[in-house]
Amino acid sequence: MWTEWRRHFEFTATRPLPGTEAPELPADQWAALSRSLAIFQAGEGGEGRIAKDIDTFEQPWIDEDYRAALKLFVREEGRHARILTNALGELGGKTLNENWTERLFLYGRRAMGIELKLTVLTAAEVVGITFYGELMKALPECGLKSALGQLCEDETEHLAFHTAYFRAATQTQLRKRAFSVAWRTIASAALSVVLLDHLATLRAFRIPPDAVAARSWALIREVERNVLYPSSSPSAAEPRAKPNRFRSALAA
Ligand SMILES: [Fe+2]
Ligand SMILES: [Fe+2]
Repeated sequence: MWTEWRRHFEFTATRPLPGTEAPELPADQWAALSRSLAIFQAGEGGEGRIAKDIDTFEQPWIDEDYRAALKLFVREEGRHARILTNALGELGGKTLNENWTERLFLYGRRAMGIELKLTVLTAAEVVGITFYGELMKALPECGLKSALGQLCEDETEHLAFHTAYFRAATQTQLRKRAFSVAWRTIASAALSVVLLDHLATLRAFRIPPDAVAARSWALIREVERNVLYPSSSPSAAEPRAKPNRFRSALAA
């Protein structure tokens, strides 16, 4: 079941880093974009521990291909951090040593077991899809816009990968209920703190925060449906969840 995912991440790892040339922007947009990208850069590079923990995590629904795919996924997030570091270089911005939302995400991951960490990571994918997607749409044609588009597509694949895990892992009513409670709690908390942290950027680019919140909520509900009620989807028999059913969220 996980072989295709391992192959997918092996393939995406071979891509060269995209260019990140920044466009001409008004000063307020430039400052807000630099700050937001620095915060996302700090969040992209911090997933290393789960790549070790997965070696001792045993469940009937995972195998060596899953472990390999998860490690490659972690490396892909590290690649995102490098892309954003390059983007900050183009913008003349600086990376952050730490940021309060990143500290919250990190604290959450460290305090939890593997499956709750995966839930936090899944929430981070929703946040990434939402914000990279909104910023991409707001920018004029430039290397940075294309790079954000690639990050957005990667996060969409990551979301499908984690959804496939939780679908496989929630075969009993108890586990379905536990996922539902954890997912709604963590995803809504993550969305709230990130919206708050990036409010100035949304305003600078005249992106209505309530529309961003509504799109994110639609995606959060879609994840829950795809995990808990796979039979409601026409491609339910495909555990890899491909072609990616979250792409509709990007087009919104
Ligand atoms: Fe990422
Ligand atoms: Fe991701």
